[in-house]
Amino acid sequence: MAILAQAPLSVLTMASLPFYALSLFFSLCVLLVSPTHSLTCTSQKFTGNKSYSNCTDLPNLNSYLHYTYNSTNSSLSVAFIASPAKPGGWIGWGINPNDTGMAGAQVILALKSSKGAPEVKTYNLVSYSDIREEKLSFDVWDLSAETNATSGEFTIFASVKVPRKS
Ligand SMILES: *[C@@H]1O[C@H](CO)[C@@H](O)[C@H](O)[C@H]1NC(C)=O
Ligand SMILES: *[C@@H]1O[C@H](CO)[C@@H](O)[C@H](O)[C@H]1NC(C)=O
Ligand SMILES: *[C@@H]1O[C@H](CO)[C@@H](O)[C@H](O)[C@H]1NC(C)=O
Ligand SMILES: *[C@@H]1O[C@H](CO)[C@@H](O)[C@H](O)[C@H]1NC(C)=O
Ligand SMILES: *[C@@H]1O[C@H](CO)[C@@H](O)[C@H](O)[C@H]1NC(C)=O
Ligand SMILES: *[C@@H]1O[C@H](CO)[C@@H](O)[C@H](O)[C@H]1NC(C)=O
Repeated sequence: MAILAQAPLSVLTMASLPFYALSLFFSLCVLLVSPTHSLTCTSQKFTGNKSYSNCTDLPNLNSYLHYTYNSTNSSLSVAFIASPAKPGGWIGWGINPNDTGMAGAQVILALKSSKGAPEVKTYNLVSYSDIREEKLSFDVWDLSAETNATSGEFTIFASVKVPRKS
């Protein structure tokens, strides 16, 4: 996990719009090096043969991160599960490739849409007051989201190229 430790990543979870109300922040690096105990995430299953080698219960908002890191091509496959703060709300997570703060974070959101599956959008948080819906600054593929009608939880699936620093 040395590569991840060298490329600061932050995970942010967001309770409700507007974006500048976002406040919950912690570092994925820390999560990656400090395994948690009595995990809820280990009992979570995915449909469609998806599986991840690692998971962690995030300390807020009943959210969970499942991930597989592939060091051959430095890619990270992630499933992020969380409950929207309000019914019909949204969830999101982000990576900040440059810094551990919020500014510069590359964010993936799942929003409830009128169709069945939630809509996935990507944002660049240039600053707290300048949030742009645009492509992320690194490669991302296999983006999708789904909801669990029973629990109300959303799941965002994504694979990202982790910026490798030499
Ligand atoms: C992820 O899981 C793999 C395989 O179980 C393990 O070797 C690795 O140490 C785990 N990584 C982290 C950061 O927990
Ligand atoms: C799941 O994996 C099994 C065995 O590899 C395969 O037969 C099946 O088609 C896969 N299902 C999906 C939904 O990908
Ligand atoms: C990691 O990525 C390489 C290159 O794409 C691929 O050959 C390999 O099968 C991947 N490993 C896993 C565990 O998915
Ligand atoms: C890296 O490997 C994963 C797993 O094999 C694959 O899904 C993905 O397309 C590869 N990514 C790149 C950027 O080559
Ligand atoms: C990160 O830093 C690089 C080099 O300084 C810059 O080109 C890039 O725009 C920055 N990315 C973000 C998301 O701020
Ligand atoms: C949906 O949520 C319920 C209640 O938490 C859980 O028992 C079930 O396994 C979930 N279904 C899927 C497909 O994750």
